[in-house]
Amino acid sequence: MRKKLVAGNWKMHGSLAQNAMLLDAIKAGVDGLGCDVAVCPPYPYLAQAQSTLSGTAVAWGAQSVSEHVDGAFTAEVSATMLADFGCRYVLVGHSERRAMYGETDVLVAAKFAAAQRAGLLPILCVGETLAEREAGMTDLVVFRQLDAVVEACGIQALREAVVAYEPVWAIGTGVTASPAQAQEVHAAIRSRVAAVDGGVAGVLRILYGGSVKPQNAEELFGQCDVDGGLIGGAALVAEDFLAICRVAN
Ligand code: PGA
Repeated sequence: MRKKLVAGNWKMHGSLAQNAMLLDAIKAGVDGLGCDVAVCPPYPYLAQAQSTLSGTAVAWGAQSVSEHVDGAFTAEVSATMLADFGCRYVLVGHSERRAMYGETDVLVAAKFAAAQRAGLLPILCVGETLAEREAGMTDLVVFRQLDAVVEACGIQALREAVVAYEPVWAIGTGVTASPAQAQEVHAAIRSRVAAVDGGVAGVLRILYGGSVKPQNAEELFGQCDVDGGLIGGAALVAEDFLAICRVAN
């Protein structure tokens, strides 16, 4: 049995005061839950997450990471810096990074590798746009994104990582993939990995992301290849995020 993971992607939201309330509420609400829970605030608030969440069941992580170790890379943040602030996870290849900041499959794979070198668990985000789905290219796109990491890092690297399937058309739109649509892609991802290594495929956690809410989480998380969720909008509302965590429990 794979332990479910619910990770909150706060994107560029929050303030010290808002985060304090959100983190306190999450901390208070996760007691006794059997799933893994994590939050990914913006970089400047990682120290706040660390001081608030240390010693609790809630892990924290960042939303991106540099592919470089250190050097003259203005505004970039390295994986060892994230590890310094106690991060356990880091998102790589979120569709907003791919679409708005030009992150390629090769760059995402380099970020994935950099994260693992520092002992972080990368959450590799993959997913197709609406046009790609309508053109019947969903598997092609998702496999291309996944294969780039496997080629660069090897299949065993997936043992210390998480994959998040996030159809771009479902992110922040209120349109969720149906449980059957999610399951179909999750199963395809798992088979793709199983074709290389069945053991890795068996333990790999594949999260679903894209307009997950307390109301639809149960059906989504009930699919056999859906191992939890990557939550955007609903992660900013403590009671919604906690309700989703309880479903994953
Ligand atoms: P959403 O975002 O839950 O607001 O759709 C998910 C994500 O972008 O990770």
